[in-house]
Amino acid sequence: MIIAQLSDFHARPRGATAYGGVDTNAMMRGAIAAVLALDPRPDCLIVTGDLTDCGLPEEYALVREALADLPMPVYPVPGNHDRREAFAAGMRPICPLLPEAGFQHYTVEDWPVRLIGLDTTIVGKDGGALCREREAWLAARLAEGDGRPTLIFMHHPPFLTGVSGMDIMTCETSPELPALIAAHPEIEAVVCGHYHRPIQRRWAGTLGFVMPGTAHQVALDLRPDTANSLVMEPPAFALHVWREGLGLVSHTALIGDFGPRRGFDLDPDYPGEHPRG
Ligand SMILES: [Fe+2]
Ligand SMILES: [Fe+2]
Repeated sequence: MIIAQLSDFHARPRGATAYGGVDTNAMMRGAIAAVLALDPRPDCLIVTGDLTDCGLPEEYALVREALADLPMPVYPVPGNHDRREAFAAGMRPICPLLPEAGFQHYTVEDWPVRLIGLDTTIVGKDGGALCREREAWLAARLAEGDGRPTLIFMHHPPFLTGVSGMDIMTCETSPELPALIAAHPEIEAVVCGHYHRPIQRRWAGTLGFVMPGTAHQVALDLRPDTANSLVMEPPAFALHVWREGLGLVSHTALIGDFGPRRGFDLDPDYPGEHPRG
């Protein structure tokens, strides 16, 4: 099974750009085209929040239109730039698992890997949270699982990364959440967006994984108390590959034209035993 992950489209109304000229809509379409061009094609796509920049119905219409090119099921969760009601109304036509109202989380039971999407948003805030109600929902879903490998996806990472400008808007949880996660070794990874950077860390006995966005990125800045800045580093998507005997492996793929593939052709005077690769 191959699960593609895209994050942080930040779609704008048609013709509009974001943050002084970032063409987020064109870059969203480029990312979707990159997924569509994959061979083998992913079985499904998860989208880890900030689908739109302002949570406007017209922005969700553009996201829907762009995702309609994909033949596989799409499972989105909201981010802090989304608006829960508009997100639900805009995304339910392509993901009927989303609730009509309330927290936008759900499980996907159709695959060899169980997917659990969590809504970490707090109305009007950049940071996120899994409040007691949401943690109780997650605990109940984990308790009813059948032991299949499980991937949790959410917008705000529930762990710190050392990027101070983003760690002030991470996902607040109760002190018990890491123990809940650690008690379920079937959780192969917790995959997130929001930080607009590629980040991995060990957390709660599982892998914490953060994806770059499909448009602008957050500059890598490890100085304390430093405000975020934006940088146009290459966008990316992830492929979470699960196979019996292989387990779950997460690949990050950059989006862009990096030239044709070439063989490992060696110079005639290459010394030694002629390694390939
Ligand atoms: Fe974002
Ligand atoms: Fe975000």
